[in-house]
Amino acid sequence: MGNQKLRSGYEAIIDRMASTRTPSIADLRKSYERAELNEAASHALPLDQFAQWLDEAIAAEVPEPNAMTLATVGSGLRPSTRVVLIKGYDAQGIVWYTNFDSRKGQQLAGNPFAALQFHWVELERVVRMEGRVTKVSDAEADAYFHSRPLDSRIGAWASPQSEVIAGRGALVANAAKYAAQFLLNPPRPPHWGGYRLEPDSWEFWQGRKSRLHDRLRYRLLDGHWLRERLAP
Ligand SMILES: Cc1cc2nc3c(=O)[nH]c(=O)nc-3n(C[C@H](O)[C@H](O)[C@H](O)COP(=O)(O)O)c2cc1C
Repeated sequence: MGNQKLRSGYEAIIDRMASTRTPSIADLRKSYERAELNEAASHALPLDQFAQWLDEAIAAEVPEPNAMTLATVGSGLRPSTRVVLIKGYDAQGIVWYTNFDSRKGQQLAGNPFAALQFHWVELERVVRMEGRVTKVSDAEADAYFHSRPLDSRIGAWASPQSEVIAGRGALVANAAKYAAQFLLNPPRPPHWGGYRLEPDSWEFWQGRKSRLHDRLRYRLLDGHWLRERLAP
């Protein structure tokens, strides 16, 4: 009798756990209903559309509105991605800074084409761009490097980005070494600078109800931007 009571006690606990269990990822889904994107209300130039959406993401205080995923292609045509921060944009393209010797730097040296993607979750928006990548000028990279906080400038020297290192201690020791060597004025390392992706294709995605999302793609055709709607 006592055992029976204990058993049903356990069963009740197990039932309760089951009812509060994390849902299966296959059951996670969300309806997108915040906004729409249509031809009449969108800009003729993709850069203007991007400027508006980036400004709106910043104004909406979405987390890290300036973070974008960068895809590059390495040897054997294998793609890889990582997150970087946009540091500028204009008609020439989208700029970020990094270590030229990193994995992405080596992949860009071998194949100067890349794709970028912003995902502003709270706004139910994505922007994608694709195009050729070039390095920004030394003058531009110097100006940005010297605007960075001192520890970031030392970090650019201390981290052989993407290389295997012995441990965290090696990184900290490197930082101490370069901090002592350069004091308050580290120069820009020769292996560190900016890249600019000049898009020849952009896509703006706005989530909509019932998976009938809005997608507008802009592509360069004879020097003009052609705007087309893509099926979601
Ligand atoms: C929010 C965020 C911003 C980042 N910004 C940069 C950046 O601007 N430049 C950079 O080199 N790495 C940045 N990183 C680190 C990269 O994602 C990545 O770890 C690093 O660049 C090495 O990538 P790779 O080995 O593919 O070259 C950032 C990471 C996060 C999460």
